[in-house]
Amino acid sequence: MNKILSFLVTALLFTSCGAKKDLRVDKHSFSEPHNVRTTHLDLDVKVDFETERISGIANYTIENINGSKELILDANGLRIDKVTSGGKDCAFKLTEKDSILGQGLIIEIEKGAKQVAIHYQSAPNSKALQWLNPKQTAGKKHPFLFTQSQAILARTWLPCQDSPGVRFSYTAKVQVPAELLAVMSAENPTEKNTEGIYTFKMEQAIPAYLMALGVGNLEFQNLGEHTGIYAEPEMIEKAAYEFAETENMLEIAESMYGKYAWDRYDMLLLPPSFPFGGMENPRLTFVTPTILAGDRSLTALIAHELAHSWSGNLVTNKTWDDFWLNEGFTVYFERRIMERMEDKDYADMLALLGKQDLEREVESLGHNHKDTHLKLDLLQRDPDDGMTDIAYEKGFFLLRLIEETVGRKQFDFFLNNYFTENAFKVMDTEEFIVYINEKLLDTDIEAKEKIRLEEWIYRAGIPDNCPEVNSTKFKNVDNAIHSFEKGYPLANINSAKWSSHEWLHFLRKLPKDSSLKDLKKLDTAFEFTTSGNSEILNAWFQLTIPTGYKAADNALEDFLMTVGRRKFLQPLYEALYMKDPLRAKRIYKNARENYHSVSTQTLDAIVL
Ligand code: BES
Ligand code: ZN
Repeated sequence: MNKILSFLVTALLFTSCGAKKDLRVDKHSFSEPHNVRTTHLDLDVKVDFETERISGIANYTIENINGSKELILDANGLRIDKVTSGGKDCAFKLTEKDSILGQGLIIEIEKGAKQVAIHYQSAPNSKALQWLNPKQTAGKKHPFLFTQSQAILARTWLPCQDSPGVRFSYTAKVQVPAELLAVMSAENPTEKNTEGIYTFKMEQAIPAYLMALGVGNLEFQNLGEHTGIYAEPEMIEKAAYEFAETENMLEIAESMYGKYAWDRYDMLLLPPSFPFGGMENPRLTFVTPTILAGDRSLTALIAHELAHSWSGNLVTNKTWDDFWLNEGFTVYFERRIMERMEDKDYADMLALLGKQDLEREVESLGHNHKDTHLKLDLLQRDPDDGMTDIAYEKGFFLLRLIEETVGRKQFDFFLNNYFTENAFKVMDTEEFIVYINEKLLDTDIEAKEKIRLEEWIYRAGIPDNCPEVNSTKFKNVDNAIHSFEKGYPLANINSAKWSSHEWLHFLRKLPKDSSLKDLKKLDTAFEFTTSGNSEILNAWFQLTIPTGYKAADNALEDFLMTVGRRKFLQPLYEALYMKDPLRAKRIYKNARENYHSVSTQTLDAIVL
């Protein structure tokens, strides 16, 4: 006993007197928020389309927790011209550049300093920014700029403590060319003014990855009392039709998990080069135009981004290793919203498509791969590389398992408290385990043993207690495929009422080695090649590329030249490269300038 005690004491002494312990919780940030943290930002910048730069002053209010002499921010490619505090210049230095993290910006401060202003300029090739020329927009007359800050790109357009655990409120003044409107993840203007100077306010504190700016020839249209859409005039009617149900979604979401914390919920419709489907920038979701199917059939994506207003934006993953806490909860919540918007059958179709994605991802990563754990280990890696369907779909199925085991009523009660008690805070996986055990599972040992939480979180692959999902709708689709395979005419298939999801299932389940003759028959009957639905087109091209179905070639090239959404581009280029590497390279060479850095980073590795 004595021995153990003295060992402990020595160990304690040793750690406290030895080298200064690194208390950083986030391996993807240089900042040390446990010493000095930023609490408010007052941003004053100019957006210059000529030089493709954002420049100006980021003025931070800081809290010095332990009398430190340094404020450390993240920067990547930024030119820092000057730093001032209380009217005086501050000494500063940038650490050596890390290829993933960029640089630490270390600023000497006086102990009592309350404000620090950084005069800076972004680089023309800032990874967060995509500068579009007029041709790349819907209207073809004006340029467009948008940011994408998640996961660690905010630091390429703004010096900041770029860690999800650091929240700050902000105000901003942004100057743009007079014919354009600027919008942010904040309280927004709804009309242009003649000076091109716009002011913004975000009263709730948010992490840097939710900082967002869009600039373009934009108009605003209200959708409901608390919801609206920003888009280029050429697109606004179509978008307003597609997203008309948003106010309804907001009400449903609130009724399930508590009051919406961000006042308004608006959306910004981006040009097709936007690398994601959607991005949950608070108060202003950024959304791809590839979900404008004309029939509101792809709006689960809006439910997803809206759901992040709770899971992610309110209760935030502490580090990118805990990404599943953002995305898994959001997918679960998304499908609950869609169940209320449509019905259980509809939500189950989404879940089944998700299960296919999960199985495909596990197959492609390898059943024993560490990236199939819910809790990731992204040390010395680009967080983007670990952000796979695992967080989304394995996360979803764990939550669905918990729901099915403890009962929906219990689980909803738990989730409600989870969001309320942890609002505007961070959550990591370990804390979550403690929390759910304490609040839900310790009192129901049978459920706890059934769920096997730790296996889901810390082990590879799909646990054998993963919930089954059944869909009569998809069963009908499976039957249709069987009948086609047996040689019955396609006219026998009763597909008149199929939704996008049934078509997607149909295309995914068709044999991968379908003959040219079969594809021709399918195309003649269902006109896939000329579909206006991006999900259907994408799934169709997955068949036409390996088969070499030439009639879809032009449509495929048009798609690749305009759409920059990585989720589509990655599998398409993989298939193309496998079939005909030279063709893949030729198309990519022409199309690459239309893609955001997030997409080219992935695609370069496949095609170049
Ligand atoms: N927050 C994500 C997008 C993201 C993730 C950006 C990781 C950068 C790093 C967003 O909420 C999302 O998940 N978008 C999905 C759509 C969704 C319906 C699964 C997408 O863009 O495909
Ligand atoms: Zn998401």
